[in-house]
Amino acid sequence: MKIVGPFTQLLSMQNLPLKGSLQDEQLDIIKNAGICINADGNIEKVGDYDQLIQDYPDAKVEKLEGNKVAIPGLIDSHTHICFGGTRAMDFAMRNAGKSYMDIAREGGGIWSTVVQTRKATQEELTQGIVDRANELLALGITTVEVKSGYGLTVEEELKMLRAIKEANKRTKQTLIPTCLAAHTLPKDFEGNHAEYLKLMQEELFPVLIEENLAKRMDAFIEEEAFDEAVTIPYFQKAKEMGFDITVHADQFSTGGSEVAIKIGAVSADHLEASTQKEVEMLANSDTVATALPGATLGLGCAFTPARALLDAGACVSIASDWNPGSGPQGNLLSQASIIATFQKLSNAEVFAGITSRAAYALREDKIGQIDKGFEANFAIFDTDNYQEITYQQGRLIPSAVYVKGESVLN
Ligand code: NIG
Ligand code: FE
Repeated sequence: MKIVGPFTQLLSMQNLPLKGSLQDEQLDIIKNAGICINADGNIEKVGDYDQLIQDYPDAKVEKLEGNKVAIPGLIDSHTHICFGGTRAMDFAMRNAGKSYMDIAREGGGIWSTVVQTRKATQEELTQGIVDRANELLALGITTVEVKSGYGLTVEEELKMLRAIKEANKRTKQTLIPTCLAAHTLPKDFEGNHAEYLKLMQEELFPVLIEENLAKRMDAFIEEEAFDEAVTIPYFQKAKEMGFDITVHADQFSTGGSEVAIKIGAVSADHLEASTQKEVEMLANSDTVATALPGATLGLGCAFTPARALLDAGACVSIASDWNPGSGPQGNLLSQASIIATFQKLSNAEVFAGITSRAAYALREDKIGQIDKGFEANFAIFDTDNYQEITYQQGRLIPSAVYVKGESVLN
């Protein structure tokens, strides 16, 4: 047993409703707090530091000096940090007037990253993921979802997912893989969208299960990608085989979120184009609405209507969408603070979006809170007030990060 503390403030994120708007007054903030951690790296007890010292006299104490704020380890529930090459040229092209979709139609965009990713070895992809995951760890992010989707053949998707599995062994935080073989129809596939998805479902899905490479299935539902007619049977098959479903939905046009809800997806992500109709549908479902402010900053388009979603009663998570094309910035802490200023989100809504509600988006029930039985994942900031974290828009970074009870920075 060990005790870490004292914390000037500890934001536990306990006992908050899963859905709807949140006020900062609802936050459970423990003063002079300590965290007692067992040998398995799980939280035994959270409470007053001095009381914990008395209650666990044999515990090893990691005593902290100065002002410290602890928050749960952050969760980035949507990233594409497995890729090769760069899309720096897209930035210049977009700012010269071409849209994301124009670039895709002209053979660039996602396809350009597919070409570059196919050239990379599995080991090179692994190293790229590890480097990016380490950057995220320094921001206090202790769980990172990572998608495939730049391989787009059975073998190349497997290469990506094997690279993610290997990277998970080499990173200190947990990586959660998602198969995004349905990202776009590869230009070199001889057949239509339905035939491509059928191939993936027959030849890729069984290997994913056999090698334990992914438990989540994603698709990009959009005009230049896949439509409802082909994704519904694809998702149905994936569900039957035990995969959780998540969707790239309503990024440029609506339709994706409706599919997500119909199929019972765990989350619908993007939603920049969602109207009040989609907002209401999401609010009346168990599908988490994931805002991706990194894609908004990358493309210069609208933010996900997070305020409207919360007011309607949805569960809103916030993720970075770190990818080489639409979201190359990758800093979740900064992006979550920025969407807060544009969408008028409370601190409670922001922190829930990147901790407890992000955990629900991934259907992970042992992360995202500092509470008994949860993994001892937390980030420590040198300040006396948790509000400084969002206020500084990502400039204030953790002085220490714990994963399963161990301090992991340096
Ligand atoms: O989430 N929209 C589709 N997929 C990614 C972008 C991928 C890319 O442009 O490389 C996204 O924005
Ligand atoms: Fe994405």
